[in-house]
Amino acid sequence: MSNLLHVDASLAQEGSTSRSLAATFIEAWSTAHPEGTATYRDLALTPPPHLDWATLSAGFTPLEQHTPEQSEGVKLREELITELETADELLLSLPMYNYSVPSTFKAWVDQVILVGRTVRQPPEESVLTGRRVTVIATQGGSYAVGIPKEGWDHQLPFIAHVLESLGATDVELVRVEMTLAPVNPALAGFTELYERSRAAGAGSGLSHPGRGRPRQPVVTAPGAPGRAAPVRPRRAARRTRPCRSVGLA
Ligand SMILES: Cc1cc2nc3c(=O)[nH]c(=O)nc-3n(C[C@H](O)[C@H](O)[C@H](O)COP(=O)(O)O)c2cc1C
Repeated sequence: MSNLLHVDASLAQEGSTSRSLAATFIEAWSTAHPEGTATYRDLALTPPPHLDWATLSAGFTPLEQHTPEQSEGVKLREELITELETADELLLSLPMYNYSVPSTFKAWVDQVILVGRTVRQPPEESVLTGRRVTVIATQGGSYAVGIPKEGWDHQLPFIAHVLESLGATDVELVRVEMTLAPVNPALAGFTELYERSRAAGAGSGLSHPGRGRPRQPVVTAPGAPGRAAPVRPRRAARRTRPCRSVGLA
């Protein structure tokens, strides 16, 4: 029996592209895994707290010496980490906010990255090794090669690096760009780019999760429409990470 952990982060409960594509994924996943279970975490509705000193220091304080603050902090951290450890598969759906990930997602990352437990040496012993990971990342604009804000995307590269440090070796990044085009008249000329980007995302592994998803030994990040640019070509060449990026028109 397969267990899927789905982490959602968009502030928008309605009209959200990442939530809508995640729903497409979940529907297909449930069909493919009739016996499967899903654990859902909505970071917008229940934001995890920032990692604080009490919680951090609890990691190197004997259990019997924990203060009430340490015990409280550890409880939630343990819950979040256990959700990750018991997941066979992970779905992350999240928008770009101010060139990066939602702060709630960063808080979640700080809670679940625990060296010696979720991040291990060798990296293959880390929590996500051997687990399928799908990322749906939405962006109001575009950060493709040649666009004025090329290089401003601190969302997908950050996510890719976090997943790599958690040992993920099977990652699919689905990027949908220009989501603001249909609602912002100034971006109306990019509506077709948005539609193509969304259709490419919806038509990728999202519709048939776990069934013959291609694996490519390359770490990718947003590039120009029609191509994917490597995040760190030298490192990727050294440690081939099966991680591909789709959603590019
Ligand atoms: C607070 C906030 C900050 C945003 N910052 C950016 C940004 O820096 N770059 C960008 O391309 N879009 C930005 N957007 C637009 C969102 O990424 C876009 O609307 C996205 O589709 C929202 O996600 P969702 O549709 O998956 O809910 C921002 C939106 C909000 C609400």
